[in-house]
Amino acid sequence: MMEEFEATYYLEGLSQFSSADLAAAGWAIPDLVLEDLLVFAQDQADHIQFWASTIEALGATPISTCAFHFQPVLSDAATWLQFGREMEYIGMSALMSAIAVLDDPELLLSAANFVTVEARHQTIYNIINGGSSVSQAYDVALPPNQLLAMAGQFITGCEIFPMNLPMVPQVAHLFGGMPAGLALNWTWGNATTQTVNQNEFWCQWTSGTSTSAVVQPIAECASPPINGYVFAWITNSSTPLTTDILTQNVGNVVAGPAIAFVDSQMEILSELALHGAANVSDINTVTPAQAASILNSSTV
Ligand SMILES: *[C@@H]1O[C@H](CO)[C@@H](O)[C@H](O)[C@H]1NC(C)=O
Ligand SMILES: *[C@@H]1O[C@H](CO)[C@@H](O)[C@H](O)[C@H]1NC(C)=O
Ligand SMILES: *[C@@H]1O[C@H](CO)[C@@H](O)[C@H](O)[C@H]1NC(C)=O
Ligand SMILES: *[C@@H]1O[C@H](CO)[C@@H](O)[C@H](O)[C@H]1NC(C)=O
Ligand SMILES: *[C@@H]1O[C@H](CO)[C@@H](O)[C@H](O)[C@H]1NC(C)=O
Repeated sequence: MMEEFEATYYLEGLSQFSSADLAAAGWAIPDLVLEDLLVFAQDQADHIQFWASTIEALGATPISTCAFHFQPVLSDAATWLQFGREMEYIGMSALMSAIAVLDDPELLLSAANFVTVEARHQTIYNIINGGSSVSQAYDVALPPNQLLAMAGQFITGCEIFPMNLPMVPQVAHLFGGMPAGLALNWTWGNATTQTVNQNEFWCQWTSGTSTSAVVQPIAECASPPINGYVFAWITNSSTPLTTDILTQNVGNVVAGPAIAFVDSQMEILSELALHGAANVSDINTVTPAQAASILNSSTV
């Protein structure tokens, strides 16, 4: 299903946005972006064919009734590219969670094969959106209901797995990289930060930088000091959420997750991809001794 979802995203965006649209949106070398996106689109189309034949070989019928609605992210080229960054991340995370439940070695091998390709796509999206290429040492997996909390708003009509899962209420979406410390109001279901009892709700941020979430009172919710991808949750307890999906304490989750990116560090590579030039004097160079010291200190 995610492969069809992603292929449709590419098809619709690539047929709508031209090099000139990307240039107008601020990309110095639009074809630097489009060249890779055309390759990613072909990868997704190939993956659909592969899954269809694998599923048929197992005697099941591939999902073919889903419809995808990307209008909200096709408003402009920048929104489309930022959504692609999110989509490739959640696609990759969904495959990680599939790996946790698969037994068949052939299917495991296929899922691992796809997850590495999705991760490479996602890395390029980080660069072309002005973030860090590989921002964190770990990724997080997303079980199907959490995936749907983010992707479900763009999908209708799937008759079988996974649309019959209980939905986690969706948290209002952010389509853009944020600086750290940006104050945020949330909407979930019929509730908003302003309409709930603010002593009873918290916003939490999970990422690959810690095995448990950053917790904030709902009235003080702000993008956390984490570089790269983050997931936002609304909970009715201040107990930090954990990130291991096999043991995750989701009982207090009222809504979420929603994916966002905190872009607090821009790399030379991203500067080059966006602006066609980089201000290398901005970058602190690393001496061999500093490099040795970094390698000597483990964060684990
Ligand atoms: C959140 O909503 C309140 C009330 O409408 C408003 O005063 C505040 O500026 C909003 N904060 C943000 C970050 O939008
Ligand atoms: C929102 O409010 C409407 C009208 O009161 C209600 O029908 C609906 O079930 C509510 N939705 C949620 C998610 O609470
Ligand atoms: C907290 O939220 C969960 C999930 O919606 C719900 O099951 C639980 O009853 C809530 N607890 C309180 C104290 O509101
Ligand atoms: C490049 O970085 C230096 C040092 O931070 C700064 O003084 C200079 O204005 C920057 N130049 C441009 C073109 O951004
Ligand atoms: C690496 O760590 C060890 C143990 O803390 C220390 O003795 C050594 O000097 C460190 N090496 C470097 C290059 O920092």
